[in-house]
Amino acid sequence: METITWQNARHRTGHDKIDRKNKRIVSLYNQLHDLNENDYSEELVTEILWELVEYADHLIAEEALLEERGASNLEIQKAKHSAFLQKVCSICEAFEERQPDILYQIKTLLSDWWNNHALIDEIKNRPRTTH
Ligand SMILES: [Fe+2]
Repeated sequence: METITWQNARHRTGHDKIDRKNKRIVSLYNQLHDLNENDYSEELVTEILWELVEYADHLIAEEALLEERGASNLEIQKAKHSAFLQKVCSICEAFEERQPDILYQIKTLLSDWWNNHALIDEIKNRPRTTH
């Protein structure tokens, strides 16, 4: 996958907080895009994983907002948020076990999140979710 170029007209969800978080996912993905498995430091991976764990707070806030607004895809979003968090936890474990493809796992997680959740459930669906 190529790096991602954020475009307001195409990518805004209509909710500033969610847009800021999505921009951060894009920025993280782009930052890691050109790194090889041997190019990163443990500090960098620790920082990124910590940030992704903290992302849980955003997802809980997002679900509350979607519920408040009667979003039609709330259950789909909750399921994908939960799967995302489980994947983050499994990558944290893989990192502790010193598995060799951590960077690949993080990049795959971020690109899947962008392509299969942000673009589909949050952005394409924005008239109905209105977030
Ligand atoms: Fe979401």
